[in-house]
Amino acid sequence: MDFLFFPFRFIPATSLSYCCDLDQYSKRLDKQTRKRYLLLTGGLISTVLNTFLTQVYRSVHFATNKEINSIVFHLQLSEFAYMELSLKGKNVIVTGGALGIGKETCVLLAKQGANVIVSDIKEIEGNFVVEEIQNFGGEASFVKCDVTKEEEIIQLTNTFQNQNKRLDIMVNNAGIANKPSFMHKVTTEVWNKLILMDLTSVFWCQKYATKLMLGDRLGGSIINVASIAGLGASPSLGPYCVAKAGVIELTTTAALEVAKYGVRINAVCPGWTETAILDVAGERGKSTMEKNIPMGRLGKPKEVANLITFLASDASSFITGSVYRIDGGTRS
Ligand code: NAI
Repeated sequence: MDFLFFPFRFIPATSLSYCCDLDQYSKRLDKQTRKRYLLLTGGLISTVLNTFLTQVYRSVHFATNKEINSIVFHLQLSEFAYMELSLKGKNVIVTGGALGIGKETCVLLAKQGANVIVSDIKEIEGNFVVEEIQNFGGEASFVKCDVTKEEEIIQLTNTFQNQNKRLDIMVNNAGIANKPSFMHKVTTEVWNKLILMDLTSVFWCQKYATKLMLGDRLGGSIINVASIAGLGASPSLGPYCVAKAGVIELTTTAALEVAKYGVRINAVCPGWTETAILDVAGERGKSTMEKNIPMGRLGKPKEVANLITFLASDASSFITGSVYRIDGGTRS
């Protein structure tokens, strides 16, 4: 916005092309703000410009600093509201898409125009998500895949290719939490299960998606769902913390390896979010979590879906190897 206004205000009318920009942006303003439209500081050139603008807009006048600030503020808001997410025609796979964060992500990506494969072990719930998407005119289908099985992941990631389409976006979201237990009491069975489910599965999903995206040289976006538990100690959640810390390293390392080839890989780290995964903590555990969140509430799956959708879209085209906390301030 500085670009738009400050040249006008301090170096008035360096180029009439700004008028086109202003015209374009002004259409996004509400009527009230549009009426208070413009500007300039004075002088011969700005008078000429003013005359020109008067013909375009009925009420043009010299703005005070306060008014300009207010217009800039409104423009910034409208800029945000109109951010293009560029997901039309993109092919997406979301693992663990039947419930919780995965479900909301599938719905939001489809609302932005993406063709979504909802993948999960839960067939009935997954098909409900597909139905919900199709009901608003979106494109979706269900593919069953247990992410603890490498062969099933290979088949899943190849789904679009088998339909002569490409995989543009892969959201590696499926995950489980361990029952609370101190590290010295964790059995090898629990440890192996958690590492397979929350770390090795993400390694496989990322690996096969990356290969496809590199293969056709068109790039893509991969989003791994880690956790704030991967950023620091969470007593009683040892195996989960270790797996999620691994997901973060997996993300950043692979991202740097393929950054030059247009494949972007990022991780999101949700804080405690209202989904079934928190059931392991029980009601008392959940209310303790809530008390420890600076914003005083659990996150909502839709809030995490917003961040994932942004990272999936071209709006984040210069972001790779990044790790985003979304936790109401918990780890600040
Ligand atoms: P959720 O339990 O609501 O959803 C998890 C989904 O994964 C379910 O649809 C489930 O059927 C699916 N799933 C489980 N095992 C699977 C398997 N073997 N193969 C394929 N799909 C499988 O949980 P939520 O909260 O939506 O979790 C999504 C991701 O977010 C997980 O990776 C989780 O670790 C992460 N996360 C969640 C937080 C929370 O507080 N809800 C906090 C931080 C991270």
